[in-house]
Parts: sequence; structure tokens; C-alpha cells
Amino acid sequence: MYQKKPGVFMADWWDANGLRHRKQFSTSAAAREHEHRETALAHAERASREMKLAARTSSPRGSGTKRASSKADIGTLEPAKGKLGVMIPGMGAVATTFVAGVEAIRKGLAKPIGSLTQMGTVRLGKRTDGRSPKIKEFVPLAGLDDLVFTGWDIFEDNMYEAASKAGVLDYRLIEQLKPFLSTVTPRPAVFDHNYVKKIDGPNVKKGKTKMDLAEQLRDDIRDFRKTSGASRLVTMWCGSTESFIEPTEAHQSLRAFEKAMRENDEMIAPSMIYAYASLMEGVPFANGAPNLTVDLPVMLELSRKNEAPICGKDFKTGQTLMKTVLAPAFKARMLGLNGWFSTNILGNRDGEVLDDPGSFKTKEESKLSVLEHILQPDLYPELYGDMYHKVRINYYPPRGDNKEGWDNIDIFGWLGYPMQIKVDFLCRDSILAAPIVLDLVLFLDLAKRTSELRGLGIQEWLSFYFKSPMTPPGLYPEHDLFIQLMKLKNTLRHLKGEELITHLGLEYYD
Ligand SMILES: NC(=O)c1ccc[n+]([C@@H]2O[C@H](COP(=O)([O-])OP(=O)(O)OC[C@H]3O[C@@H](n4cnc5c(N)ncnc54)[C@H](O)[C@@H]3O)[C@@H](O)[C@H]2O)c1
Repeated sequence: MYQKKPGVFMADWWDANGLRHRKQFSTSAAAREHEHRETALAHAERASREMKLAARTSSPRGSGTKRASSKADIGTLEPAKGKLGVMIPGMGAVATTFVAGVEAIRKGLAKPIGSLTQMGTVRLGKRTDGRSPKIKEFVPLAGLDDLVFTGWDIFEDNMYEAASKAGVLDYRLIEQLKPFLSTVTPRPAVFDHNYVKKIDGPNVKKGKTKMDLAEQLRDDIRDFRKTSGASRLVTMWCGSTESFIEPTEAHQSLRAFEKAMRENDEMIAPSMIYAYASLMEGVPFANGAPNLTVDLPVMLELSRKNEAPICGKDFKTGQTLMKTVLAPAFKARMLGLNGWFSTNILGNRDGEVLDDPGSFKTKEESKLSVLEHILQPDLYPELYGDMYHKVRINYYPPRGDNKEGWDNIDIFGWLGYPMQIKVDFLCRDSILAAPIVLDLVLFLDLAKRTSELRGLGIQEWLSFYFKSPMTPPGLYPEHDLFIQLMKLKNTLRHLKGEELITHLGLEYYD
């Protein structure tokens, strides 16, 4: 749903055959309701077709695993040859913790804890087969030694200086990495103070139109490709959270977007200009912040056209990670929920940016969406029809990057008796985010090298890493962490022609 002009709202949906439709309404509620209804109908129709197809093709008693398509159907998985260039708009706490961490691991100074690509395994075949290779040995991922980096920021600090100021890593580790980190210097950023009100910096590009700025970013990308010798590139938005906006007509097609850029339309945020530049260069783009950025029809169109995969939004790190673990447990046990109050104190630059109401609203929307989708109040009105969900973020400088996330959860059980759960997560934001960045870099590069994935646009199998996972318009996102993990691993099995694991398990009792 988007607003075309004041008082004109467009419902926007895809039917079961993949055809896009739009219809005009005078209120946003009516447009949204129509869109939801049509989308639900399309999904129901697709599901019924799939069930009929499965009934025609399945064996009488499943083996508990489902055979993926034949190797010929799956297409090609190109090897990871040469260097992989990582381009990061926003060289702050997350970006520097990621890059410093990669270098520390390469030097044997630390371990890649928290990274699924580096430490995770994938079970293949039956439980009795004993086949569980490491993910990085199962699919062809770039090695850490092949990663090279560049970035953009409004501040002139190189990665050594930025990491020192971010205050996440111990200074002794940063000093050991100084020779490497000092070489990663920021390119001038595309920045608009109206989108990030709490900060301003000198290292900013100038251009008459937003299209000029996009051209400058495209030059940067080409320059990095050439000077670094990278054979492939990935862009990872680690910039500040931008002010909340809703999609407009300018975001609905490539033609409208390019016209709007030439006219300096204020609804085109800097992060969208980076995304446009990357996708135009055929480079995959992931969005670690809750901004719209690539979650727009224009970006989906461009991503598909140029075979540059996209994913987002908003890294799932601390409090939301806990929420997407606990909420599925309540639903699994049919326990009710009256309310969930979440508050955070944090004192890093991200916290300062989120102190602005516009940026906070963007983050709030992202954090709030999780419970509705997991608990499905429409299906379980007695359990979740009347829950109160509140999220607060408080900027509190003494804490720096060491955030504290408190949750008070009011649940109810048998006969309606109330209970409470308190969670106090003393986490380290960027320590949780850095391995997510690494995994996304490696998996997006894999997607780009995979004929079956690169033309899809949104990589829904990477939902595991995001607070607000992207899906095609109208399709609700999957938030449950363990369903997301199963989706991710089944995607890898599928790509390699291995059997998908359904956990049916009847064959063990034959
Ligand atoms: N740390 C986490 O756990 C976590 C979790 C989810 C999402 N995020 C998001 O990731 C992003 C980065 O977080 P962080 O803690 O590193 O923040 P940070 O403030 O330390 O770093 C952000 C950097 O982006 C730069 N920047 C802002 N606008 C820019 C632009 N247009 N172009 C280039 N640079 C720009 C800022 O100058 C800053 O250096 C934020 O949007 C945050 O909300 C972080």
C-alpha cells in the first residue's frame, strides 16, 4: 500500500499467477485491507495448487526428508574465485567491529563466534547417516582471506580511528590491527541531514541532483573494483537509521525513481541512492538498518533486472533475537500474552541517532512488527487478540555500546492464570551484529553466483538475520528464528541437490 497523493491510497498486490495489480482507495485503511484480502486469496490459491501437485508427485509414505529438484533443475553454483570486495556505507561501530574482527580472525587472534557460515554445520540425509559438514565446506563461500574492504562515511576517520572511538573492542586488540585498519579510509558520503538529524560531518559529496550523487557513487564502485582487484562485490548498509518515511509513487518503478532523482524529490533518502548505485552496477545489497532502502518496488525491479540480490531490514541482534525465540515458544504451548514491554538503554552513536523521533519511529516500526506476525492474533484471538506491545529506546551515554535490554512479559496459562517473565539482556550490540554482517556478505555473494537465486530479487532465505525480513509485496514475513534457520539450511541443501529435511521421521520406525 502506498500514498499516491493526499487522499489517494493505492492497494498494490500480486495475484496467484505473479501478476501485479493496483487499485485506488480514499483511505489507507481501506487500501491496506483490500491488499491483505487479495494477497491472502492469492496465497491460498497458490498453496492449493502446490498441494495438488504434491499429491500427484509424492510417494505413499514420505522418508521424512524431501528430495530437492534434480541437479539439472537447480542450475549452477559458480565457485568463489578471486577477491570479494565489501563496500560499507556507514563506517561506525558495527562496520569497524566487523572489519576488525575479520582481520583478527585472519591473524589467528580470535575466533568467529556467532557466525553461522564459519562455525555452523548442516545435517544431510537421515539422522543415522552421520553427515554434518560445516556450512563453509558444504557450499562454495568466499574465504576470509579473500575479503577486501572500502566504505563511505560523513566523518573522515579511517577504520582504526573509527574503531577506537566506537569503544566496542579492547584498545590492545585495535592497536594490533592498526596497520590494516588505518588503510581503510572513508570515501565521501551521500548524506542529507534531514534524514539523520542528530549528526553532521564534513566528508560529504556535492552534486546538483540526486542522480549526480548516484553517478559519483557508481564511479566509487568502479574505482574500488579496479583498485582492489576484486572479482565480485557486495554492499552492506551499516549507516545510521534514517527518518521514517512511507513509500510514494516515486518508489514504484525504475522510471519514476530516476525521474524523481533528477528532480531532487525529498522522498529519496541517501540509503536509496547507495542502493540504486549498487544495483545499477549489478552489486548485491543488504540493509542492516530499518530504513526502507531496498524494500521498495523500484529496488525489486532493479535487483531482478540486474541479477543483484537484495535483503534486509535491520539486523536481528539483541532484544528482537530474544523475542523471536520466546514468542514462538508461547505460541507452541498455547500460552496467552497480555503485554510485552521492552525498553533499552544504550549510549553509542546509534543510540544518539535514535534519540531523534523520526529515526526512532523507523526503528520502532521494525521492532513492533515481530509479535503480530509470530503470534497471529487473527488465528488465536483468545490468546493474543488483546496484547499490548510497547518498545522504548533511551539514549544513555554512560553505557556506550554495551546496551541493556529489559523485557517485562505478561503471559497467562491454564484457566487464564497470569504469570510474568523478566528478561534483562546485558548485551554488546556490535559484537552481536558483526557476525551477521560477515554471514550476509558471504551468503549474498553466494546468491549472486547461483543461477537459481541471483534473479529472484529478495533473498527470503536470509530472513534469519533481520528484524523486519523482506518479502514480496503482500506476503507476510516469517519471524520465528527456528523456522528461519530451517529455511536457510534447506535452501543450502536444495542448492546442492540434497534432500530437504522435514523432521517427519517416520522412516526410523519402519
Ligand atoms: N548494533 C546493532 O546491534 C544493530 C542492530 C540492528 C541494526 N543496527 C543498525 O545498524 C546501523 C549501524 O549501527 P552502528 O551502531 O554502527 O551505528 P554508528 O552510529 O556507530 O555508525 C553509523 C555510521 O553511519 C554513518 N552515516 C550516517 N549516514 C550516512 C550516510 N548517508 N552515508 C555514509 N555514512 C553515513 C555515521 O556517520 C556513522 O559513522 C544503524 O542504523 C543501526 O540502527 C545496529
